Amino acid sequence: MEKGKFIVIEGLDGSGKTTQTNIITEKLRAKGINVINQAEPTPHEFGRMCREVLGGRKKVTKSQFALLFTADRIDHNINPEDGINMHIGKGDTVISDRYYYSTLAYQGVDVGLDWLMSLNLGCEDIRKPDLCVFLDLLPEKSMERINANRSEDEIEIYETEEYLTSIRKRFYNVIDALKETENIVVINADGTVDEVAEQIEKAVMSIY
Ligand code: TYD
Repeated sequence: MEKGKFIVIEGLDGSGKTTQTNIITEKLRAKGINVINQAEPTPHEFGRMCREVLGGRKKVTKSQFALLFTADRIDHNINPEDGINMHIGKGDTVISDRYYYSTLAYQGVDVGLDWLMSLNLGCEDIRKPDLCVFLDLLPEKSMERINANRSEDEIEIYETEEYLTSIRKRFYNVIDALKETENIVVINADGTVDEVAEQIEKAVMSIY
Protein backbone atom coordinates (compact mmCIF):
# COMPACT_ATOMS: atom_id res chain seq x y z
CA MET A 1 0.00 0.00 0.00
CA GLU A 2 1.14 3.55 -0.74
CA LYS A 3 2.58 5.37 2.28
CA GLY A 4 0.29 7.94 3.92
CA LYS A 5 1.19 11.61 4.21
CA PHE A 6 2.25 13.49 7.33
CA ILE A 7 1.11 17.13 7.49
CA VAL A 8 1.79 19.66 10.26
CA ILE A 9 -0.18 22.82 10.99
CA GLU A 10 1.80 25.41 12.95
CA GLY A 11 1.11 28.93 14.11
CA LEU A 12 0.80 31.22 17.09
CA ASP A 13 -1.89 30.61 19.67
CA GLY A 14 -5.10 32.10 18.28
CA SER A 15 -4.01 31.77 14.63
CA GLY A 16 -6.90 29.41 13.88
CA LYS A 17 -4.94 26.15 13.80
CA THR A 18 -7.69 24.08 15.35
CA THR A 19 -10.48 25.45 13.12
CA GLN A 20 -8.35 25.11 9.99
CA THR A 21 -7.11 21.64 10.92
CA ASN A 22 -10.72 20.50 11.23
CA ILE A 23 -11.66 22.05 7.86
CA ILE A 24 -8.79 20.51 5.89
CA THR A 25 -9.46 17.18 7.60
CA GLU A 26 -13.06 17.23 6.36
CA LYS A 27 -12.00 18.32 2.85
CA LEU A 28 -9.52 15.46 2.54
CA ARG A 29 -12.05 12.96 3.87
CA ALA A 30 -14.52 14.16 1.25
CA LYS A 31 -11.90 13.23 -1.36
CA GLY A 32 -11.78 9.71 0.06
CA ILE A 33 -8.50 10.19 1.95
CA ASN A 34 -8.45 8.65 5.39
CA VAL A 35 -7.27 11.36 7.83
CA ILE A 36 -6.19 11.06 11.44
CA ASN A 37 -6.35 14.36 13.29
CA GLN A 38 -3.80 14.73 16.10
CA ALA A 39 -2.08 17.41 18.19
CA GLU A 40 1.03 18.02 20.27
CA PRO A 41 1.31 17.96 23.19
CA THR A 42 -0.37 14.54 22.84
CA PRO A 43 -2.81 13.13 25.42
CA HIS A 44 -0.16 10.60 26.46
CA GLU A 45 2.19 10.58 29.46
CA PHE A 46 4.79 13.16 28.37
CA GLY A 47 2.17 15.33 26.68
CA ARG A 48 0.15 15.45 29.87
CA MET A 49 3.28 16.56 31.74
CA CYS A 50 3.81 19.35 29.17
CA ARG A 51 0.24 20.58 29.79
CA GLU A 52 0.82 20.59 33.56
CA VAL A 53 3.89 22.80 33.09
CA LEU A 54 2.02 25.06 30.63
CA GLY A 55 -0.80 25.47 33.16
CA GLY A 56 1.68 26.33 35.95
CA ARG A 57 0.76 23.21 37.96
CA LYS A 58 4.18 21.60 37.57
CA LYS A 59 7.66 23.15 37.69
CA VAL A 60 10.58 21.89 35.60
CA THR A 61 13.73 23.51 34.23
CA LYS A 62 13.73 24.96 30.72
CA SER A 63 15.89 22.15 29.37
CA GLN A 64 13.61 19.56 30.98
CA PHE A 65 10.61 21.29 29.41
CA ALA A 66 12.23 21.12 25.96
CA LEU A 67 13.01 17.44 26.53
CA LEU A 68 9.44 16.71 27.63
CA PHE A 69 8.06 18.09 24.36
CA THR A 70 10.67 16.09 22.44
CA ALA A 71 9.95 12.88 24.38
CA ASP A 72 6.25 13.43 23.70
CA ARG A 73 7.08 13.81 19.99
CA ILE A 74 8.99 10.52 19.91
CA ASP A 75 6.00 8.81 21.49
CA HIS A 76 3.74 10.56 18.96
CA ASN A 77 5.82 8.97 16.16
CA ILE A 78 6.31 5.46 17.48
CA ASN A 79 3.30 4.75 19.72
CA PRO A 80 2.05 1.36 18.52
CA GLU A 81 -1.61 2.21 19.19
CA ASP A 82 -2.01 5.64 17.63
CA GLY A 83 1.44 6.80 16.53
CA ILE A 84 2.22 8.57 13.24
CA ASN A 85 4.30 5.64 11.94
CA MET A 86 1.50 3.17 12.49
CA HIS A 87 -1.12 5.33 10.70
CA ILE A 88 1.16 6.21 7.81
CA GLY A 89 2.12 2.58 7.42
CA LYS A 90 -1.56 1.82 6.87
CA GLY A 91 -1.70 4.46 4.11
CA ASP A 92 -3.60 7.05 6.17
CA THR A 93 -2.79 10.77 6.36
CA VAL A 94 -1.89 12.24 9.76
CA ILE A 95 -2.42 15.95 10.41
CA SER A 96 -0.71 17.25 13.53
CA ASP A 97 -1.63 20.53 15.19
CA ARG A 98 1.98 21.55 16.14
CA TYR A 99 5.25 19.62 15.83
CA TYR A 100 9.00 20.31 16.23
CA TYR A 101 8.71 23.80 14.73
CA SER A 102 6.87 24.76 17.96
CA THR A 103 9.62 23.37 20.17
CA LEU A 104 12.26 25.21 18.14
CA ALA A 105 10.29 28.48 18.31
CA TYR A 106 9.00 28.34 21.89
CA GLN A 107 11.87 26.57 23.67
CA GLY A 108 14.77 27.40 21.30
CA VAL A 109 15.63 30.70 22.89
CA ASP A 110 15.76 29.20 26.38
CA VAL A 111 18.03 26.26 25.75
CA GLY A 112 19.84 26.94 22.45
CA LEU A 113 18.41 26.38 19.00
CA ASP A 114 21.35 24.25 17.82
CA TRP A 115 20.89 21.69 20.59
CA LEU A 116 17.14 21.47 19.96
CA MET A 117 17.62 21.22 16.20
CA SER A 118 19.99 18.28 16.47
CA LEU A 119 17.79 16.66 19.13
CA ASN A 120 14.70 16.83 16.93
CA LEU A 121 16.00 16.77 13.35
CA GLY A 122 18.72 14.23 14.12
CA CYS A 123 16.46 11.79 15.92
CA GLU A 124 15.66 8.65 13.94
CA ASP A 125 12.31 8.36 15.74
CA ILE A 126 11.14 11.85 14.72
CA ARG A 127 9.80 11.91 11.17
CA LYS A 128 10.19 14.89 8.83
CA PRO A 129 6.71 16.03 7.68
CA ASP A 130 5.71 15.96 4.00
CA LEU A 131 4.34 19.48 4.52
CA CYS A 132 4.31 22.11 7.25
CA VAL A 133 1.69 24.87 6.95
CA PHE A 134 2.56 27.89 9.08
CA LEU A 135 -0.49 30.08 9.81
CA ASP A 136 0.89 33.56 10.24
CA LEU A 137 -0.98 36.20 12.22
CA LEU A 138 0.13 39.45 13.83
CA PRO A 139 0.38 38.97 17.62
CA GLU A 140 -2.20 41.68 18.37
CA LYS A 141 -4.71 39.76 16.26
CA SER A 142 -3.77 36.51 18.00
CA MET A 143 -4.41 38.17 21.37
CA GLU A 144 -7.78 39.53 20.20
CA ARG A 145 -8.86 36.03 19.23
CA ILE A 146 -7.45 34.43 22.40
CA ASN A 147 -9.18 36.97 24.66
CA ALA A 148 -12.47 36.62 22.80
CA ASN A 149 -12.50 32.85 23.14
CA ARG A 150 -11.24 32.10 26.62
CA SER A 151 -11.79 33.04 30.24
CA GLU A 152 -8.80 34.54 32.10
CA ASP A 153 -7.86 31.40 34.05
CA GLU A 154 -7.64 29.39 30.83
CA ILE A 155 -4.97 31.60 29.30
CA GLU A 156 -1.65 29.78 29.33
CA ILE A 157 1.77 31.10 30.35
CA TYR A 158 2.75 32.06 26.79
CA GLU A 159 -0.35 34.02 25.88
CA THR A 160 0.73 37.68 26.20
CA GLU A 161 1.24 39.96 23.22
CA GLU A 162 4.89 40.63 24.04
CA TYR A 163 5.65 36.93 24.23
CA LEU A 164 3.76 36.14 21.02
CA THR A 165 5.70 38.88 19.21
CA SER A 166 9.01 37.29 20.15
CA ILE A 167 7.73 33.81 19.30
CA ARG A 168 6.55 34.93 15.86
CA LYS A 169 10.04 36.28 15.22
CA ARG A 170 11.50 32.95 16.32
CA PHE A 171 9.12 30.99 14.08
CA TYR A 172 10.49 33.07 11.21
CA ASN A 173 14.07 32.21 12.21
CA VAL A 174 13.15 28.53 12.34
CA ILE A 175 11.44 28.68 8.93
CA ASP A 176 14.49 30.47 7.53
CA ALA A 177 16.82 27.79 8.88
CA LEU A 178 14.70 24.92 7.52
CA LYS A 179 13.25 26.25 4.28
CA GLU A 180 15.88 24.61 2.06
CA THR A 181 15.45 21.15 3.52
CA GLU A 182 11.74 21.08 4.37
CA ASN A 183 8.45 21.76 2.63
CA ILE A 184 7.13 24.75 4.62
CA VAL A 185 4.31 26.98 3.34
CA VAL A 186 3.54 30.26 5.14
CA ILE A 187 -0.10 31.38 4.91
CA ASN A 188 -1.51 34.71 6.06
CA ALA A 189 -4.18 33.73 8.61
CA ASP A 190 -5.75 37.19 8.74
CA GLY A 191 -8.39 36.40 6.11
CA THR A 192 -11.84 34.89 6.44
CA VAL A 193 -12.00 31.27 7.54
CA ASP A 194 -12.90 30.26 3.96
CA GLU A 195 -10.06 32.26 2.37
CA VAL A 196 -7.46 30.73 4.68
CA ALA A 197 -8.97 27.26 4.22
CA GLU A 198 -8.70 27.58 0.45
CA GLN A 199 -4.99 28.42 0.60
CA ILE A 200 -4.33 25.52 2.95
CA GLU A 201 -6.15 23.17 0.60
CA LYS A 202 -3.96 24.32 -2.29
CA ALA A 203 -0.77 23.66 -0.32
CA VAL A 204 -2.01 20.30 0.93
CA MET A 205 -3.19 19.04 -2.46
CA SER A 206 0.28 19.75 -3.90
CA ILE A 207 1.72 16.80 -1.95
CA TYR A 208 -0.78 14.21 -3.26
P1 TYD B 1 -1.82 24.68 21.64
O1 TYD B 1 -1.74 24.03 20.32
O2 TYD B 1 -2.00 26.14 21.66
O3 TYD B 1 -2.93 23.96 22.50
P2 TYD B 1 -4.31 24.60 23.03
O4 TYD B 1 -5.13 24.83 21.81
O5 TYD B 1 -4.83 23.51 23.93
O6 TYD B 1 -3.95 25.85 23.77
O7 TYD B 1 -0.48 24.28 22.40
C1 TYD B 1 -0.30 24.54 23.76
C2 TYD B 1 0.94 25.33 24.04
O8 TYD B 1 2.08 24.47 23.96
C3 TYD B 1 1.23 26.49 23.13
O9 TYD B 1 1.27 27.67 23.91
C4 TYD B 1 2.62 26.25 22.60
C5 TYD B 1 3.18 25.22 23.54
N1 TYD B 1 4.18 24.31 22.93
C6 TYD B 1 5.51 24.52 23.15
O10 TYD B 1 5.91 25.45 23.86
N2 TYD B 1 6.43 23.65 22.61
C7 TYD B 1 6.06 22.59 21.84
O11 TYD B 1 6.92 21.82 21.38
C8 TYD B 1 4.65 22.39 21.60
C9 TYD B 1 4.20 21.23 20.77
C10 TYD B 1 3.74 23.27 22.16
